[in-house]
Amino acid sequence: MKPVKVGICGLGTVGGGTFNVLKRNAEEIARRAGRGIEVAQIATRHPNAKCDTGATPITADIFDVVNNPEIDIVVELIGGYTLAKELVLKAIENGKHVVTANKALIAVHGNEIFAKAREKGVIVAFEASVAGGIPVIKAIREGLAGNRINWLAGIINGTGNFILTEMREKGRTFEEVLKEAQELGYAEADPTFDVEGIDAAHKLTILASIAFGIPLQFDKAYTEGIARLTTTDVNYAEALGYRIKHLGVARRTDAGIELRVHPTLIPADRLIANVNGVMNAVMVNGDAVGSTLYYGAGAGMEPTASAVVADLVDVTRALTTDPNNRVPHLAFQPDSLSDHPILPISACESAYYLRIQAKDHPGVLAQVASILSERGINIESIMQKEAEEQDGLVPVILVTHRVVEQRIDDSIAALEKLDDVVDKVVRIRVEQLN
Ligand code: HSE
Repeated sequence: MKPVKVGICGLGTVGGGTFNVLKRNAEEIARRAGRGIEVAQIATRHPNAKCDTGATPITADIFDVVNNPEIDIVVELIGGYTLAKELVLKAIENGKHVVTANKALIAVHGNEIFAKAREKGVIVAFEASVAGGIPVIKAIREGLAGNRINWLAGIINGTGNFILTEMREKGRTFEEVLKEAQELGYAEADPTFDVEGIDAAHKLTILASIAFGIPLQFDKAYTEGIARLTTTDVNYAEALGYRIKHLGVARRTDAGIELRVHPTLIPADRLIANVNGVMNAVMVNGDAVGSTLYYGAGAGMEPTASAVVADLVDVTRALTTDPNNRVPHLAFQPDSLSDHPILPISACESAYYLRIQAKDHPGVLAQVASILSERGINIESIMQKEAEEQDGLVPVILVTHRVVEQRIDDSIAALEKLDDVVDKVVRIRVEQLN
C-alpha cells in the first residue's frame, strides 16, 4: 500500500524531532500503522542543524504544504495563535487531516477548529499539546472513559518545573535557569508563557474539557506564575515538609469547575512532589479507578515528537485499516508481528543483591570476591555485618553491577559449595530504572 503523505509545517525543536523519529523508526511505525508514513514536504524558513532532511522538498511558505494535493496530513508545528489558526482552518477546508502540538491554538480556538473539522469530516489530533511525550489525552479520553472524573492536578509546564527544581536543589537563580531552559529548547518562544502559567493554563483548559465534557474556556482559567517565588519560601516550605510545585488543578464541584494554575505546597512524600526537572506528571482521579498518575518528559525535541508521531499513526490507521479493527489488538498489524524471541531468565541482565551466610573465618570475603571476579562480575558495594552471637555466622551482603543472570547462577552454585558458606545464598534482583 502507498505510504500516507505528511507535510510538516515548522522545523524547530518539535518539527525536527518529528522528522527524525519518523525517519529513524520508519519500519516499526509502518508495522503499527499498516502502511508507511512519508514526509512529502516541509515548510520552514530556517534549516534545523539537528535534522538532516536529505532530499525532502522544502518550501518557505506554509501554505504550499496546505495546498499541496499530494499531502494527506498537515502537521502544524509553527506555534502561536494567528497564523497557526489560519493554517489549520485552511488545511481542514482543503480536506486534510491535522496533527498539532499547539496548546495555545487548541485552548483558545479549539471549539471553532473542531466544529470546522466535523463539518469537513477530517481528524484534528493534538496529543502533543499537553505534557509533551505523556499520552495523557489518550488516557483520559479512552482509558478512563468509564469514569466520572472528579479532579485532575498536574505539573504541566516543563520549563517551570525545571526552574523550581534547580532553585531548590542547587540554589540557582531564576534568571539563570530560565536561560538554560531556553537553550535546551524547553521554553516557549515567549518564556513569560511558561513562568506566568499561561502555557500551563492552555494545557489545563484542554485537559478539563476532555475530563469533564465542557467546551474549551481558556479565558476563565485562573493563572498565577512562579516569577515571584523566592528561594526563601522554597526553603521554608521544605522545612515544613512540603515542596512547592507549579500546579494546574481542575476539579468538579457542585457549584462549578475549578480551573486554576498557581504555585502550590505539596507534602514532600507525595509522588508528584518528587517530579523534578523538565518532567511532567498528571494525576487524574476518577470515581471508579481512584487516583492514577501519568509521568514523563513534558517538553523537548523527541519526547514531544513521540506524541506527534503517535497521532500520525492514529490518523493513518483511521485512513487505512478495517474500521472495526482500527487499533490492532497487539498494537502492530497482525501480519507485521515479529518472531523476536523471549529470553529465558538465565539470559536476562540485571544487577543483584546477594546475602551470603558465612562462617566467621579469615579469608571468606576474599573467596567470595574471587568467585565473582572469575565470572566477570563487578561488585558495586559490599558489607559484612558482625557475627550473630548464637551461631557465629556473618552475613556478607553485596550488590553487583549489571550482569547476565547465568553468571550469577554459576557464582551462587560455586559460593554454596564453599565450606564456609552455610544456607542458600539469597538473591534479589536490583533495577535502577534510570
Ligand atoms: N514550554 C513548554 C514547557 C513546552 O516547558 O512545558 C512543552 O509544551
